[in-house]
Amino acid sequence: MPSITYRRVDGTSATVVVDEGTSIMRAALQNDVAGIVGECGGQAMCATCHVYVPEGVELPEVSDDEDEMLECTTSDRLDNSRLGCQLLAGRDFDELTVDLPESQV
Ligand code: FES
Repeated sequence: MPSITYRRVDGTSATVVVDEGTSIMRAALQNDVAGIVGECGGQAMCATCHVYVPEGVELPEVSDDEDEMLECTTSDRLDNSRLGCQLLAGRDFDELTVDLPESQV
C-alpha cells in the first residue's frame, strides 16, 4: 500500500499507510496528522493543504487551478510547493515524503 511521510518544521515526522486514491490532504486528516487543514475538502479552492515536495521527485504537472491557488498560500510559495489535495497515492506516487509549511491559515 502507498505511504506518505509528513515532515514538520520542528523536525518530527509522521508516516501513514493509505489506500490508493487517497490524497495527501485526506490522508493527513484521516490519520490526525496536524499541519494540514483542507478547508475546501479537496476542491483546489483554499490552499490550506499546502506542502513542499523534495527536489527530484517526479509528479504530475501543476494544473492551472492548482497554480492559481498556490498563489494564496499562507507560508511562502516555493518552486516545490504543491496542493496536497491534488496528489493521489497510487495514481501519482507510491511512497512520498512531503514537508509541511509553518502555517496553513
Ligand atoms: S484542500 Fe482546499 S485546496 Fe486543497
